[in-house]
Amino acid sequence: MRHFTNVQDIGPLDRAIADALEIKHDRFAFSDLGRNKTLMMIFFNSSLRTRLSTQKAAMNLGMNVIVLDVNQGAWKLETERGVIMDGDKAEHLLEAIPVMGCYCDVIGVRSFAGLKDKAEDYEERIINQFIRYSGRPVISMEAATRHPLQSFADLITIEEHKKVERPKIVMTWAPHPRALPQAVPNSFAEWINATDYEFVIAQPEGYELAPEFVGRAKVEYDQRKALEGAHFVYAKNWSAYRDPNYGKVLRTDREWTVDSEKMALTDNAFFMHCLPVRRGMIVTDDVIEAPTSLVIPEAANREISAQTVLKRVLESL
Ligand code: CP
Repeated sequence: MRHFTNVQDIGPLDRAIADALEIKHDRFAFSDLGRNKTLMMIFFNSSLRTRLSTQKAAMNLGMNVIVLDVNQGAWKLETERGVIMDGDKAEHLLEAIPVMGCYCDVIGVRSFAGLKDKAEDYEERIINQFIRYSGRPVISMEAATRHPLQSFADLITIEEHKKVERPKIVMTWAPHPRALPQAVPNSFAEWINATDYEFVIAQPEGYELAPEFVGRAKVEYDQRKALEGAHFVYAKNWSAYRDPNYGKVLRTDREWTVDSEKMALTDNAFFMHCLPVRRGMIVTDDVIEAPTSLVIPEAANREISAQTVLKRVLESL
């Protein structure tokens, strides 16, 4: 594997899950693979899980790790080509990227959507510039439109907990006070669409995702109806995708909050969320604290998804 930005890059999912479970069984079995190799993790945005789990995954493989928070301690970066740099941005990404590539063997990039210009976000300008100019394999640690390490961890978690061969998975929109990117729901949809599981996206009117991510999913505007018989409930907020409301919050009322009365409609479903989560908005305390909540196992599996991907990238160097 050269780069990892989406579900296609991982190849057949059954093989990827098998590799992940093998790594989970003995996460130090390949601790020589990354000897004298350096992972550089570049963060344009805040992170807890991605930062810690990816660093731990790299350390399990024997890699050295450099972490750069672009907004803390680095020169402020210009990302547009053709601009006159007479403002507060001291360095252009087009020099910064190849320089970063000089100091490492693999680059991980975390960069959110701006949520102002849909075309710019869906072009994936930042991560694609890293792929083009760094000269190194690039791993997405969440980009503008996808969060593949999260989705891979989510799928590993589903595989570990499913009680039927083809579970019903419901991804439900839930309220949040701020505008969030579509990366996590897009990516979760992309990965679940690559399985043969029953997949429903529940959302209020106006929150339709891009058709290429919705894929074969059944879109349901009645959350309670969608939840009936579900085996997994994946809650997530996202801002509007469709114009003219791209990047906007259309409602913040708690009609769509996942609570125990709604979970009672399911087939004793597991509750999932990528974290961080706003309690009382996305989900009630009792649901996230219930034995059926998988939020911590999902986060734990971020180490496994990252290590599976890094192992494949190292094997291709
Ligand atoms: N789920 C996830 O990516 O968490 P962080 O934003 O804390 O990395």
